[in-house]
Amino acid sequence: MVKGKLLCIIACFMTISFGADYTTSVSSLYIEGNQKVVGRLLPTVKVDIIEKVGDKFKISFEGYIQDGAENAIYFVPNKRILVAGITKNAKFDYEVIETITDKDKVWKKIKTTFITDQKEFTKDVNTLYKKADEMYSNNCSICHALHNKKEFNANQWPSVVNSMLSRTAISKEDSYILIQYLQKHAKDM
Ligand code: HEC
Repeated sequence: MVKGKLLCIIACFMTISFGADYTTSVSSLYIEGNQKVVGRLLPTVKVDIIEKVGDKFKISFEGYIQDGAENAIYFVPNKRILVAGITKNAKFDYEVIETITDKDKVWKKIKTTFITDQKEFTKDVNTLYKKADEMYSNNCSICHALHNKKEFNANQWPSVVNSMLSRTAISKEDSYILIQYLQKHAKDM
């Protein structure tokens, strides 16, 4: 009995400490050993934390890219849900996990490693989604009825939110979380 409990505690601890981490805000990306910002990592992105490097973290994450447009790393093929945007001409290494064809377009699923100044990660992406959902219902139903999340597809949500943002108290920083949340719960997801 006691042994069972102990095993359970160990198992739970391992799940918590080795489970996936998610980014909680938009952050900068760097190549190891260089102080220059080479990209931006979006919130609600699943990452593996490799190690702490000074006051930053070395992380790896996955996403989809297309040949000739490697600087935009997407959550899924053929939908403009950004995982990270890398500065044009910045050379970065990645490992190709698989190559797929979707809607006649060739996409590479990649895994890449960067340094990030992200301060806080969460094990539970749903706490972020809950925060975003509250932000959405509190701010976007003041002047008109709240629009259904399924009313727009993933590619439409960024421009809808951006066109309304100046009418709300939502900060630019928080708008990234809101956009990711709405895109990942859109009509076509
Ligand atoms: C200060 C008032 C106000 C707030 C706050 C507001 N809206 Fe609007 N919204 C409007 C008005 C007015 C319209 C009518 C069209 C226009 O003026 O652009 C509109 C139209 C819309 C439409 C319809 C656009 C279309 O093309 O059919 C959507 C969707 C929308 N808002 C979403 C949002 C979202 C999401 C938020 C929160 C981020 C939000 N609104 C916050 C005033 C507001």
